[in-house]
Amino acid sequence: MAAIQFRNVAKRFDNGKVTVIPDLTFDIKDKEFVVLVGPSGCGKSTTLRMIAGLEDISDGELFIDNKKVNDVAPKDRDIAMVFQSYALYPHMSVYKNMAFALKLRKMPKKEIDEKVRWAASILEIEPYLDRKPRALSGGQRQRVALGRAMVRNPKVFLLDEPLSNLDAKLRTEMRSQITMLHKRLQTTFVYVTHDQTEAMTMADRIVVMDKGVIRQFDTPQKLYSEPADMFVAGFIGSPRMNFIECMITKKKDALYAEFADHIMRIPASKSKGLEKYENRSVILGIRPEEISAYSGGLNVQESCVINAKADIAEMTGGQVNIYFELGESRCIACVKTERKISAGDEVKLLFDCNSAHFFDKETTKAIACV
Ligand SMILES: Nc1ncnc2c1ncn2[C@@H]1O[C@H](COP(=O)(O)OP(=O)(O)OP(=O)(O)O)[C@@H](O)[C@H]1O
Ligand SMILES: [Mg+2]
Repeated sequence: MAAIQFRNVAKRFDNGKVTVIPDLTFDIKDKEFVVLVGPSGCGKSTTLRMIAGLEDISDGELFIDNKKVNDVAPKDRDIAMVFQSYALYPHMSVYKNMAFALKLRKMPKKEIDEKVRWAASILEIEPYLDRKPRALSGGQRQRVALGRAMVRNPKVFLLDEPLSNLDAKLRTEMRSQITMLHKRLQTTFVYVTHDQTEAMTMADRIVVMDKGVIRQFDTPQKLYSEPADMFVAGFIGSPRMNFIECMITKKKDALYAEFADHIMRIPASKSKGLEKYENRSVILGIRPEEISAYSGGLNVQESCVINAKADIAEMTGGQVNIYFELGESRCIACVKTERKISAGDEVKLLFDCNSAHFFDKETTKAIACV
């Protein structure tokens, strides 16, 4: 059992002169797989290192398993950390690397042997137990690093960008291995990455961080469908959500979004929060994959057809990524079409207002639509 609670945790460096984390409060549940995601320098590793006890906490309280750990030494926290660099001992065999921490704890040899072989069999590294780390591939080394954490039977696994040294194919493979490992071990995992795809595919819940502040903490599905602000909307999803400035107008009883010679009726389900923005400009967000190729003949009442000129067209299998300009905004549409589209072509694209998001221009926060 190991829930983790941050209560108004702050982290300052340089004798308090540099604040990296101003005030962090959130809960990780027991057995949960939580991913911390955000741009470089936003404080992900610092947050993880505070859980590990590798960084002091400047202010606030941190609980692991309902016990305040502010002053508990790393070795007494019952956690294991896996780093990007693997940090294996180069002069020791794989077996010894995995056994090392247990030996320090003076665990009986037989028990150590059982644990090492148990972890090695789950991770499929049994054939390499006698090899030195330098004789292993990146993926195999990463598995040894995981194995070394597993044998300690920790309450919490902390992983800091463990896959970033691997090539794309191996990364995808290891991603599912780690997810399976989490299911099998039934332990709390806290995983740091700046790769939103990794976060989306692995996490039960994701913490989106920016400059030491949590922008949103929610399930992958919720972050995607109901981003709290433009930062989250732009960070989650690839390619990035398109942002287009538009004017909210009212005709008869309906609201409309007007932008760059286009007008789109806003469905009643999204109108409530937008009422007070009448005759003001807001940001319309639409995901590239929610734009489709217009083939005519549809009821387009709550959508609009955009005549776009493709600046670039990338064919990616069954889909084309079309880059185009819309007023002041550079946009991308990822559409499924049989037609061959080349740079310079005119294409008709369909924006569906039912899948649109709206944001306040000043605060960048999502405008509540229901
Ligand atoms: N020992 C330190 N002294 C001063 N500043 C530090 C120290 N360690 C980290 N920082 C600063 O704290 C901020 C957060 O760093 P952190 O390593 O947590 O970022 P990160 O989100 O893990 O980034 P990345 O994705 O690049 O690994 C950065 O601006 C960094 O420069
Ligand atoms: Mg980091």
